[in-house]
Amino acid sequence: MSEAPPLRVAVVGSGPAGFYAAGQLLASEEPRVEVDLIDRLPTPWGLVRLGVAPDHPNIKAVSRAFERIAARPGFRFLGNVEVGRDLTHGELTELYGAVVYAIGAQTDRRLGIPGEELPGSWPATSFVAWYNGHPDFQHLEFDLSHERAVVIGNGNVALDVARMLALTPAELAPTDTTDAAIEAINAAGVKEIVVVGRRGPVQAAWTPVEVGELGELAGADILVDPAELELDAASAAELEAAPPTVKRNVEHLREYAARTPDGKHRAIRLRFLLSPVAIVGDERVEAIELVRNELVDGRAVPTDGRELLDCGIVFRSVGYRGVPLPDVPFDEGRCTVPNDGGRVVDAAGAAVRGVYCAGWIKRGPSGVIGTNKKDATETIELLLEDARAGALASGQAAGAVDRLLRDRGVAVVTQSGWEAIDAAERAAGEPHGRPRLKLAAWDELLEAAGFDPVSG
Ligand SMILES: Cc1cc2nc3c(=O)[nH]c(=O)nc-3n(C[C@H](O)[C@H](O)[C@H](O)COP(=O)(O)OP(=O)(O)OC[C@H]3O[C@@H](n4cnc5c(N)ncnc54)[C@H](O)[C@@H]3O)c2cc1C
Ligand SMILES: NC(=O)c1ccc[n+]([C@@H]2O[C@H](COP(=O)([O-])OP(=O)(O)OC[C@H]3O[C@@H](n4cnc5c(N)ncnc54)[C@H](OP(=O)(O)O)[C@@H]3O)[C@@H](O)[C@H]2O)c1
Repeated sequence: MSEAPPLRVAVVGSGPAGFYAAGQLLASEEPRVEVDLIDRLPTPWGLVRLGVAPDHPNIKAVSRAFERIAARPGFRFLGNVEVGRDLTHGELTELYGAVVYAIGAQTDRRLGIPGEELPGSWPATSFVAWYNGHPDFQHLEFDLSHERAVVIGNGNVALDVARMLALTPAELAPTDTTDAAIEAINAAGVKEIVVVGRRGPVQAAWTPVEVGELGELAGADILVDPAELELDAASAAELEAAPPTVKRNVEHLREYAARTPDGKHRAIRLRFLLSPVAIVGDERVEAIELVRNELVDGRAVPTDGRELLDCGIVFRSVGYRGVPLPDVPFDEGRCTVPNDGGRVVDAAGAAVRGVYCAGWIKRGPSGVIGTNKKDATETIELLLEDARAGALASGQAAGAVDRLLRDRGVAVVTQSGWEAIDAAERAAGEPHGRPRLKLAAWDELLEAAGFDPVSG
């Protein structure tokens, strides 16, 4: 008796959500599943490679779990394949029994204030991608010559940006930060990095470990004005009832406010209850105008108080934002793919057969790496339920997508191509005591994967 053909699933996006989804699918025995994990980049792991701060190697080590998933039978990596460019949504639904979109949030939220587009005003998304070696961001030049940099936002990404700017040469040296970024940060004239939150210390989105490590930086004092830690009655009550993480955040801040600065080379100053109203400058950023807020029912409401802060560069770290893919349903308000537990739904709320989503594009740009495991598991349980109910076709044999991509001249980076990139990067880092020296140019990546960049 011949065995039933496996269910063939395309998972689009090889960040944490895509890998956890692939892992859940490959663990299924009935139906048996084969996964093509597709990414527009020649490298997998999404924000674990290109978002997580390079001075946090222990967090990047989650990639070992992804490598174990990639080693399972039935797994293929199809890198350098962009859905919407190299393959359409319609083709994916023809080729595969099911498609899982795990494309993350590819751009930044805007502040919507005058001066946001001035040279020197940057989304944190670009800076993070640059220092992490994302091949689309290596042409950027960040002018770090002014002595003050401002970071807008009170999330963990804002702290990553502030901390990266404050690291000493000795702290940067053992990381996989790109050499260009290490050189620029080491040579920067920045003396003070001001992190600006629109609400108070109790409402900050960051987490205690990340706030706590600011106090241990070798080359930067951490400055907090005790007056900005004074809580109104509502915030005091909120803190009283808050989870331990919020209490620990505030304890760290109070400890910082009580410190006497050591006079280190740089300083990170944490400010609260201030919103940017304009980024100011003739040709480029010269200052930022801030309005003092008060909290009303937990919301930041502007008062008459204003201040102008001289600065040469502004990083807007107010969240990532999902972008639509052609022909895939999209909720313009939430910037996510509309779904019911991971089953993609159309404008009328009806499930789109065989189409699913997971991770940041499913629930919005929040949550740590592990959050995506639970999230992907929820999606894949529904997908397998649909498969077991006979609602999904099995999909075409692997050769069909391979032929289509070959005919289109797409240089597909397979798992072995990625492993060649990985080996080259690790070998280049090893003599310098660094985890890897990232290849950050498209042609270098493709060449390391075995393609001849000249003849294609
Ligand atoms: C700067 C930063 C630092 C972070 N640091 C930490 C941390 O220290 N610890 C922690 O636990 N969490 C951290 N997080 C959160 C964590 O990275 C996210 O929760 C997680 O990466 C989201 O996973 P995802 O798979 O949904 O998206 P992503 O990781 O963004 O992966 C999406 C993937 O989809 C691919 N893709 C996009 N569009 C297409 C397309 N059209 N075709 C094919 N492929 C496509 C992308 O190339 C990418 O590889 C951080 C987040 C950021 C932004
Ligand atoms: N080390 C880690 O574990 C780590 C590192 C990096 C990222 N991450 C995770 O990745 C996710 C994304 O992080 P994130 O920092 O991008 O997002 P985030 O946690 O949602 O923080 C966004 C911040 O921007 C502020 N903000 C939003 N709109 C604003 C506006 N118009 N003006 C001023 N401030 C505004 C928010 O303030 P309000 O609260 O007032 O809206 C909030 O402080 C988070 O879940 C984070 O924990 C984790």
